[in-house]
Amino acid sequence: MLRPAPAPAVLTALMRAARGGRRDREPPGGPRVPSFCSAPPPQPVVAAKEPFPVELKAGKNYSWCSCGHSQRQPWCDGAHKRAAPGLAPVRFSPSRDGPALLCACKRTRSPPYCDGSHRGDTVRAAPGPPRA
Ligand code: FES
Repeated sequence: MLRPAPAPAVLTALMRAARGGRRDREPPGGPRVPSFCSAPPPQPVVAAKEPFPVELKAGKNYSWCSCGHSQRQPWCDGAHKRAAPGLAPVRFSPSRDGPALLCACKRTRSPPYCDGSHRGDTVRAAPGPPRA
């Protein structure tokens, strides 16, 4: 079995300094180099490829699903906490009653409203909604 090469002394000293000078027991194979790369942010999924027509009430508070995983589209049902941590619903309160087209592809640049982004190639090529 091959063992990784030991870390250079300067790296070991830097890592010890990062731990506040403590001499922790090093894991087998030497110290691990901390990763400065973070995971990419979660991406929303396409809930549908056409906007949702809704009737909005002035002054009412709404939570629009921005992750695409909600089973109550276009509204948030809390699914983002499990399926897309890091994404959050868009809370809004319209200033007047009336019909609106809310984004279903989750790629709009003016959330929660449809801006026509669903007509783009990215959405057209995307897999269908996460549920049947
Ligand atoms: S449904 Fe997303 S921009 Fe139209």
